[in-house]
Amino acid sequence: MSGPLILAIESSCDETGVALVENGRRIHSNVVASQVALHAGTGGIVPEVAARAHLRWILPVLDGAMADAGVTMADVDAVAVTHGPGLAGSLLVGINTAKTLAWVHDRPLLGVNHLEGHLYAAWLLDPGQEEMEEPRFPLVALIVSGGHTFLVEMRDHLQYRLLGQTVDDAAGEAFDKVGRLLDLGYPGGPAIQKAAAGAIRHDAVFPRAWLGDSFDFSFSGLKTAARRIVGAARSAAGLEAQPDEPLPGGEVAELAWGFQDAVTDVLVAKTIRAARAAGARSIVLGGGVAANSALRDRLVGAAADLRIPVVIPRPGLCTDNGAMIGAAAAWRLAAGERAGLDLDARPSLPLAAR
Ligand code: KG4
Ligand code: ZN
Repeated sequence: MSGPLILAIESSCDETGVALVENGRRIHSNVVASQVALHAGTGGIVPEVAARAHLRWILPVLDGAMADAGVTMADVDAVAVTHGPGLAGSLLVGINTAKTLAWVHDRPLLGVNHLEGHLYAAWLLDPGQEEMEEPRFPLVALIVSGGHTFLVEMRDHLQYRLLGQTVDDAAGEAFDKVGRLLDLGYPGGPAIQKAAAGAIRHDAVFPRAWLGDSFDFSFSGLKTAARRIVGAARSAAGLEAQPDEPLPGGEVAELAWGFQDAVTDVLVAKTIRAARAAGARSIVLGGGVAANSALRDRLVGAAADLRIPVVIPRPGLCTDNGAMIGAAAAWRLAAGERAGLDLDARPSLPLAAR
């Protein structure tokens, strides 16, 4: 071991994750139980259902992570857990599990911000993966998830300055809502990506909300426009009077592409502009929407023109997982931080101020 081994727990939303991470970087195990199938029926997350599912899965996932890493609590140096932002009932399952482990085994306890976890996923290495360069400071990070969309500048570890954020919906939320409009099911993000890949004409145009020079984002107008554009496509296909009849697949593909193109266009343009303004030496992309291949490719292409390296975790580390919490926790541990057994869920915990 070249540094502390942290047991990290994530249960803020709809994934139950437990990981063992060495030195904030090397993943020894990372087990995630996803509730996606459970929430597909309701087309979204029902908090009460999510909390119960975390309770059902937290101990099997914990056992799985310990077994995969081949360790016992005697090998673990600290216990970390997401304490916000997120759903209170879901957060409490992870928090109480972490507190119990820390207390019974007399290990330091650390509270980690979920959004900071998404950011620190950029430092993670899979088991056996070759060493690679770490993100360099100052960096600009775009975090795009189901609940959050923001740009942040980091001049050092754990130092965040908010550059801009969504003034209404999160990017992932827009993907989920438009996915529903296009009858693509839940979650919308991966389904829209898949549908968009089948587009041939690439001529659907969705509006972009640039909001002047600011680094803020707005996606609610896009959702309204999507409703109008989908309605027009249905009329054109003669489906106005048949609400149960789906749009032809070819049409869905074009609209999915047009929507994805509008979202990625704005996200990438603002990230690049922020990176230039901050004199960034690297760009980090994180959060569930960072799993989107169009967004990844476009950001990498735009940053290459500026010769700024981009660090994007593999898709499985962009969506919620325990390892990202372990990565951030290592820096909190090194800074001497310790949470008490009074650690509580902070559903609206902010990451940074402007
Ligand atoms: O970070 P995450 O797993 O959970 C939150 O903290 O919210 O993000 C989930 C979001 C969902 O809105 C989902 O639709 C979106 O990430 N997402 C994607 C893709 N994979 C997941 N959006 C676009 N393209 C994808 N491939
Ligand atoms: Zn997340």
